[in-house]
Amino acid sequence: MDNSNQWWKDGVIYQIYPCSFADSNGDGVGDLQGIITHLDYLEELGVDAIWLSPVYPSPMVDFGYDVSDYCGIDPLFGSLDDFDILIREAHSRKIRVIMDLVLNHSSDQHPWFLESRSSSDNPYSDWYIWRDGKPGGKRPNNWSSWFGGWAWEYDEGRGQYYYHMFGKLQPELNWRNPQLREAMMEIFRFWMDRCVDGFRLDVFNQYFKDARFRDNPQKLGLRKFDRQTHIYDTDQPEMKGAVEEIRQVTDAYPERYVVGESFLVGPEGAAKYMGDGKLHAAFNFELLNCPWDAGRMQAALQRWENALGEDAWPTLVLNNHDNKRSSSRYRTGENDDRNKAAAVLLLTARGTPYLYYGEEIGMRNIHVPYSQIQDPPGKRYFPLFPTRDACRSPMQWDNSPQSGFSSSAPWMTVHPDFPYRNAAAQRDDPESLYNVYRKLIALRKEHKALQEGLYMPLTFEPKTLMAYLRQTKDEMILVAINFGRKPVRLFLGSDLAGKTWNLLLSTRREKLEQPQGNAIRLLGNEALVVDLD
Ligand code: NOJ
Repeated sequence: MDNSNQWWKDGVIYQIYPCSFADSNGDGVGDLQGIITHLDYLEELGVDAIWLSPVYPSPMVDFGYDVSDYCGIDPLFGSLDDFDILIREAHSRKIRVIMDLVLNHSSDQHPWFLESRSSSDNPYSDWYIWRDGKPGGKRPNNWSSWFGGWAWEYDEGRGQYYYHMFGKLQPELNWRNPQLREAMMEIFRFWMDRCVDGFRLDVFNQYFKDARFRDNPQKLGLRKFDRQTHIYDTDQPEMKGAVEEIRQVTDAYPERYVVGESFLVGPEGAAKYMGDGKLHAAFNFELLNCPWDAGRMQAALQRWENALGEDAWPTLVLNNHDNKRSSSRYRTGENDDRNKAAAVLLLTARGTPYLYYGEEIGMRNIHVPYSQIQDPPGKRYFPLFPTRDACRSPMQWDNSPQSGFSSSAPWMTVHPDFPYRNAAAQRDDPESLYNVYRKLIALRKEHKALQEGLYMPLTFEPKTLMAYLRQTKDEMILVAINFGRKPVRLFLGSDLAGKTWNLLLSTRREKLEQPQGNAIRLLGNEALVVDLD
């Protein structure tokens, strides 16, 4: 199969949280037709692919990350026919479609689990992780759940415990069972036969647990989950073989892409699953977890670079559906200067940038009082940790009621800033954050150096200044970002300062004077992208 077109390297990927993107039928929840209606917007923004958070049939206890049928579409979102239209319409605009596959666990309502829990000698009995308790009615071991509490749930019918890293209605599948594994590969084929271009694998390195079910060592921590080192319940060596098998299956189709969401591991842990014969990419959440600090950001990029093998390709992520939005993390008030500078980093560093819907207009987290929390861990850990609902509010399309998202009350509150912070207003404003994103995406498309060029950190002054070169044999692009409010000077050797400076983009000004002496001055929170001739 010809897989030489590595579109995912050069491309920009846009995550859609379907519940919150656009509601076409007025039930307050986003749907596939809603997405179809807004494909022109995504084309204009310039994204190369959309990743859909799960749209499969689901009881929605974890908003679709609890799947009850891997080969269907939940009626809430539409039908398989709608899905085929979405694929067709997206492809006609040169936008690829990436599905979110949640193969570590299913819903407890999946027919496989209903069968599995019905007896210990049916064909599906071993498709989930069942264990006897220890004498005295104790749980099989000390493993804890990321959603809170223990990871074992007792089932009266089987007289055994089943394992769940997430909610207790999300039992974990047993990847050691060959039939289960083959069923998983069929799911990939099912969607690729429907012309899906790639997959995002939910918590993929969680598929295998220790074969001997040993207790995790204990440590100090805030939540029960943090009070153990997760060496036996996740990231087991058997995962390598599964990753290779997935790659073989997807390589049998042209130009398919697989990105894994690595769980509880840093860049080094993620990197071991990436490269030829393995996943095309895995997420690095280091940037997302960095405070607004030049040195920390640059160190995060460098740690990723150090961890990656030659055949691996980085990902760049500032936002997703599990984390506080970057515009709220960077405490930007109503001003978007920091968000613009962050966009420059995301779209000019080395790797595939991922955008999360609404990031391009600087949507902020909403305030969610306890009574309105819908996210299970959000409820459990209130007020210790912010609920994930807060970053999943309806897309702010325009200033009409419900921000143009729906004709009726939406499933989650719209941010009250929507009358002035919305896509329609920002499209018309040449100075807006949206237009910075759009221009940067266009620049990436035009300049090979920004896609595949060498990444060379230049210098940084901890906390304030970050600068790097992106370079191919034909072009050299300088990126400089001032993280501080005050102007700073970037000192360059005479070699660089002596070149002709063509401003490709500044987040704060129209024109750039040629450097005076060996230095260039950046305004407060300004980011520059300059072509050096
Ligand atoms: C990771 C997903 O990103 C998150 O939203 C979900 O709750 C867990 N996996 C469980 O599927």
